[in-house]
Amino acid sequence: MQQHSMENKKAIVVTAVLIFSMISSFVKMDFPPENNRPKVKIMSPENNSAFARNTMASYSIEVSDKEDGESKYQEIPSSEVFLEIRYVSDASKLPDLRKKALQKDPPGFPEIKRSDCFNCHAVKAKLIGPSFNDIGKRYEQNASNISKLADRIKKGSSGIWGDITMPPHPDISDADAKNIAGWILKYAVDPNVDYLRGTEGSFWFRPSAKTTEGVYMLTASYNDHGVDGEKGSSLKGQDIIIIKEKK
Ligand code: HEC
Repeated sequence: MQQHSMENKKAIVVTAVLIFSMISSFVKMDFPPENNRPKVKIMSPENNSAFARNTMASYSIEVSDKEDGESKYQEIPSSEVFLEIRYVSDASKLPDLRKKALQKDPPGFPEIKRSDCFNCHAVKAKLIGPSFNDIGKRYEQNASNISKLADRIKKGSSGIWGDITMPPHPDISDADAKNIAGWILKYAVDPNVDYLRGTEGSFWFRPSAKTTEGVYMLTASYNDHGVDGEKGSSLKGQDIIIIKEKK
């Protein structure tokens, strides 16, 4: 009798293991490949460090993504890593801003980051092309200006800002071009925010406010390449630190 029930138990266990392995291999086959969120870390400056007014601050960022690779081995291009520098006059707003930073970028910004725009434009500084801030100041934020700029982004532009021509971007869809133009007119003109591209760089610590009360929130971010490079499956990783003015 005892012998019998032992064998029954064995049979049950063997069957269960078989069923389990069948299900798990079936599930693996049917699930799309997994995408893990990238890990982003600001290596310098240190969180809560203080800078004297009008000094140059340098920064460095490391990114590690299970699918895309490691920035320190050049597997992640430096040109896909961004640093947002946001002046926050009232530190009690920080928790809200941290929450916002976790959300997706506003429409248009991911497309700007993915395209070649930052080879010639910076948000606050003039490079080969005018700064996005200057463009945003020149054109009021309305539907007709958004269409006009979207058209120039797609077809190219010359003679408006100087002698250098902007090449056309025929691969950008009409909807994306409008989102991009909308982002420039709305977000690039915010006097409290700048964006830098690259895993390393430097910026002037020049608070516009006269008091030493405000802080700077630095947000490093990387949008990964998702599953098979598909846009919709991209995940954003970020790291946030605070820097202050030396009192
Ligand atoms: C090879 C350099 C280069 C690249 C790449 C480039 N631009 Fe430009 N961009 C320029 C130059 C130069 C001008 C000024 C052209 C002029 O005077 O009309 C300009 C002008 C503009 C303008 C203002 C047009 C106007 O009507 O005032 C916008 C908006 C703009 N660029 C957006 C973008 C976006 C968005 C991208 C990426 C999709 C991009 N640019 C890529 C060089 C570039």
